[in-house]
Amino acid sequence: MAAFPLAHVIESQQFDRELLEVVFQTADQMKADLLGERRFARSLDGRIMASLFYEPSTRTRFSFESAMLRLGGAVITTENAREFSSAAKGESLSDSTRIMNGYADVIVMRHNEAGSAARASEISCIPVINAGDGAGQHPTQALLDMYTIMDAFPEKNSLKIAMVGDLRYGRTVRSLSYLLTKYENVEIIFVSPPVCKMEGDIKAYLDKNNVPWREETDLAEVAPEVDCVYMTRIQKERFHDPEDYKTAAGRYILTPERVRTMKPDAIIMHPLPRVDEIPKEVDDDPRAQYFQQAMNGLYIRMALLYLLLKKD
Ligand code: CP
Repeated sequence: MAAFPLAHVIESQQFDRELLEVVFQTADQMKADLLGERRFARSLDGRIMASLFYEPSTRTRFSFESAMLRLGGAVITTENAREFSSAAKGESLSDSTRIMNGYADVIVMRHNEAGSAARASEISCIPVINAGDGAGQHPTQALLDMYTIMDAFPEKNSLKIAMVGDLRYGRTVRSLSYLLTKYENVEIIFVSPPVCKMEGDIKAYLDKNNVPWREETDLAEVAPEVDCVYMTRIQKERFHDPEDYKTAAGRYILTPERVRTMKPDAIIMHPLPRVDEIPKEVDDDPRAQYFQQAMNGLYIRMALLYLLLKKD
């Protein structure tokens, strides 16, 4: 296996097509191994992952921790770093990072401020993995999203994707947009209320990389024309103005009726957690991929930990 060139995983732009193939092929190996011989079960024996989560998480934290344990490594963690680490006593992120450098071999960090993981990586001698930094990025989510898309459309050489909901504060759609620029024949439709539009930096990046995009407000019009509907939660916790939140909440719901208008081979994705944007009745539709998407997070995170920690 070729050496993995990244010291840290901070943003989607770090990945080119070649590197994506390495990650996806390794994830394939991890997936097969979990069902088979368990050749990788002791591959990170003796290695320690510190999971430092200053914001809540179910999927990202547990899948990283499960990934490390399934590779034979160990995990040190705190229940809620904002409350139960010395951040509560005023310790800086940089001091916490320096301390973790002595205790662990890799840091997986979720933080409420955009740019926090990048700042930590600048002073860290061990790999830092960005598990979500405020409204900034969530690169490992984008990797598992892209892996899910590639798995659903192995033969397809074009993709029209609608990203729906909270595009302003949604770090998953930001990271996925960056990653989609690495592929040919991609078109993105941003569907959001006016208060949650995709930010200009992403639109400028898409323009620079010749990825066509447009903005719409009506999901009913867009759903029948795309290969993938990527729903997101309106993130109440990130809104500064409660009135803005009220105008956005509950506006986009992918009802079974709407799903019926989608292409037969289209897929429905969601980074989860969901609130009301995908009713449970949609879960049994074969196009609903969001639980498989979350499962793919385990394989992708096993691959990343393996590639980052085994390279020496
Ligand atoms: N998709 C995602 O990041 O989920 P969690 O917030 O549960 O980690």
